Amino acid sequence: MDAGPDPDPDPGPATDEGPGPGPGPGPGPGPGPVPDPDPSTELNSSLVPDPVSDPDVEPLPRGGFRCRLCQISAANRPSLAEHLRGKKHQRLRSLRAERRAQEQRSLFVSGFARGTSGAELTEYFGAFGDVAAVVMDKEKGAYAIVELQDAAGRERALAEPQHSLAGHRLRVRPREQKVFAYGPGHSPCRESRGPGQLEQELCQAPDVDAQMTQLVGLLALSEDERRVRHLLVALFQEVFTEFFPGCAVMPFGSSVNGFDTRGCDLDLLLDLEPTKSLQASTREAAGNGSGSGAEDSILSDIDLAATSAPEVLELVAAVLRRCVPGVRRVRAVPTARRPVVKFCHKQSGLAGDISIDNRLALLNTRFLQLCAEADERVRPLVYAVRLWAKQQGLAGNPAGGGPLLNNYALTLLVLFFLQTRAPPVLPTVAQLRDLAGDEDRTVVAGWDCSFPRDAAALEPSTNTESSCSLLADFFHVFGDFDFPGRVISLREGQALPLPPPEAGEGLKLGPLNLQDPFELSHNVAANVNEKTAARFGRCCRDAAKYCRSLQYCRKSSKGRVWGLTRLFRPGAVEPGAANAGTFLISIPLDDASGSQQLCREPGGRGPWFREVCAAIAFVLRDVLKCSCAVGKPPQASGEESEFPEDSALSEELPAAPAAEEAAVGSKRRPPEATNGAALPGGKRPRTNGPEETANWSCAVWHRVWTGRRRLRRRLRHGDGDDVPDGDDLPDGAELELERKVSEAIAQQDEAGWPPEPLLRFEASARVAGTRREARVLLRLLPTPPPPGPLFRDFFHFLRSFLPVAVRRRLGQGGSPDPREGGDAEVFLSTACSPHEMLLYCHISP
Ligand code: UTP
Repeated sequence: MDAGPDPDPDPGPATDEGPGPGPGPGPGPGPGPVPDPDPSTELNSSLVPDPVSDPDVEPLPRGGFRCRLCQISAANRPSLAEHLRGKKHQRLRSLRAERRAQEQRSLFVSGFARGTSGAELTEYFGAFGDVAAVVMDKEKGAYAIVELQDAAGRERALAEPQHSLAGHRLRVRPREQKVFAYGPGHSPCRESRGPGQLEQELCQAPDVDAQMTQLVGLLALSEDERRVRHLLVALFQEVFTEFFPGCAVMPFGSSVNGFDTRGCDLDLLLDLEPTKSLQASTREAAGNGSGSGAEDSILSDIDLAATSAPEVLELVAAVLRRCVPGVRRVRAVPTARRPVVKFCHKQSGLAGDISIDNRLALLNTRFLQLCAEADERVRPLVYAVRLWAKQQGLAGNPAGGGPLLNNYALTLLVLFFLQTRAPPVLPTVAQLRDLAGDEDRTVVAGWDCSFPRDAAALEPSTNTESSCSLLADFFHVFGDFDFPGRVISLREGQALPLPPPEAGEGLKLGPLNLQDPFELSHNVAANVNEKTAARFGRCCRDAAKYCRSLQYCRKSSKGRVWGLTRLFRPGAVEPGAANAGTFLISIPLDDASGSQQLCREPGGRGPWFREVCAAIAFVLRDVLKCSCAVGKPPQASGEESEFPEDSALSEELPAAPAAEEAAVGSKRRPPEATNGAALPGGKRPRTNGPEETANWSCAVWHRVWTGRRRLRRRLRHGDGDDVPDGDDLPDGAELELERKVSEAIAQQDEAGWPPEPLLRFEASARVAGTRREARVLLRLLPTPPPPGPLFRDFFHFLRSFLPVAVRRRLGQGGSPDPREGGDAEVFLSTACSPHEMLLYCHISP
């Protein structure tokens, strides 16, 4: 039977995930959707013996797995099995089963007369069996989904050769079976490409310029996502017009400024000025005895001009709550600098803000658009800087503000940088004002917002720098910028001395001063605190340093991450975490033994280092019951060491002039060149050659980190130990107790010794520190990467356990600092915040 041209083939019932105005949640990148498994097997999922044979599971290179249903990766079999047993997976399976069953009871019906109601369809199809639900196509009423109570009813309806209702021939066919795809938050608009995939895709590009261009394509909104936003704006406009005749709903910010990213919020301005004018003229006309139209409004008794801003916000919030389908979590925020009503839209997954007084934002959005269109390097640069800053925890728009740079401020910073190149890539705002035609002249709230609306009015830039080198320069420039002592002015394209002219008294100065291009009395970075400003500079310096390395500008021939990708690893270029995604544990050692030995053993190959390594192996093997075999050095020759640099050490070392001054693309000074027992100040050189490390291949067999404290307490008391819990035992006894705890944990494993380890990792130790402070850095690399949640749990435990235990083994007692690896804290807080973990590894908590 011909189904005829469907305006929108089967949007699905509005319940649950709902039809959504756009496409269904995309399966995301990767191998794409696979046919769903037979629904009859769904509920028996727990009986599937081998997780790998699960039809939802797709093997990944290096022993990892991906669950297509939940769109997460698991590092190994145990993590996969754990995920498949988990609540989220089970919930999605049963949701999918329910959907399938529902689809198999449903019909897709079209051809009925315009205006046909759901009740009429219910009555008609009731002849074939009980009707559970009828969902009409809301927009045009051209089709409906009719869900019968059971599949037999549907079969009876399908068996009927002809259907007609009120003289119209109906087209009745089975409801299309959709691939059930789960996106984060069930949303087609959320970021569907995680950094892992992003990294993989970027690594394929031939050079950094290509990576940057590709980045824009990978992050920007798709056409479908744009359409969803467009539809949502239209929906808001329709509803608000009912209440505020003449009003206009206009998007601004990232949805439309040329710097959109998947899942970015939807900023809207609800312009009520036309409504106020209309109300005024209505009142006037009423006085004259004639009408005008505004009296049709449901709110005609409210005089908007006389209503306070917080009250109007509440009114807007009430309309959103009660009258816009799918809108949730509506909240007025009257105290914001620009008061807004926040909302979420369920079906699209979009979050957004509605302002009622922010015409300047429309203009500065148009300005950003102009800049994005003015030169093809602008977008790649802004996208790269924004993602870098987000990954370093420097920028973003956290709810309730916070001390981070917001995306608008960060974008302005990049634009300012481009204004200040020689020759400039972008004109200054003052130059743009001179180029503005009469039709472009605008003053908003007293601020001159005149600039050409069309990028064709601008002269192309004569600057020929590549995007790759511009990005490196960006970090270089802001790594050493006097943020507190100057005001960044996009109007002048200069960093102005304080106080800047024309700003008036309103400009709130602080550790980072970035003047809005139009509203000169507004420091768009006024929320940034000293710590963030300092960290911004430091991260820029680290990024600049990385951009001078070969890894930045040359594609790795060995399939390693290179170019932009390392910049985007969370905390990647924070001091000490030159290679994020590695897990470092710092083991501080007593001065008496370590530091002196360190000086005698530069390179870490002497007996002292061997002794420390033996202690590490002892703790892993004997105390924690891990397998621990001699492993390979972490690095193949030819590329820079993958071993993260030790920040404390590298900061103490005098800068290597050759490296500091090297142009982008120059080769780093080889480590031997800084060899230096001979360095001034008695400072030790960095020692990151492969011959200086001790290496192990390890396997973890039991969850030795779970329930440890409880067992420890029990074992201590069971041994008749009357030393209070908090007091230390002698070093040897402490280690013995810990060994027993691990043994008890292993014995708790019902299955006995498991056939496969829970985790595998490579570990490399090397000497770090100075004459004043010796330590050993242990790097862990999960095999296969990426690190799963189990590995992170283990690492979290080990980073505090291992330093103490190693010191005890060496007879140095537990650490005076209970946190031990101070640097590990830094690495972890930058490389492994829970949010970033989630983002980075695609693993649900
Ligand atoms: P955002 O900082 O949210 O930027 O400001 P964005 O580009 O929309 O980034 P997302 O949405 O977080 O991805 C949104 C808009 O608000 C206005 C600007 O128009 C900006 O584009 N705005 C923001 C200001 O006018 N002044 C400010 O201080 C901040």
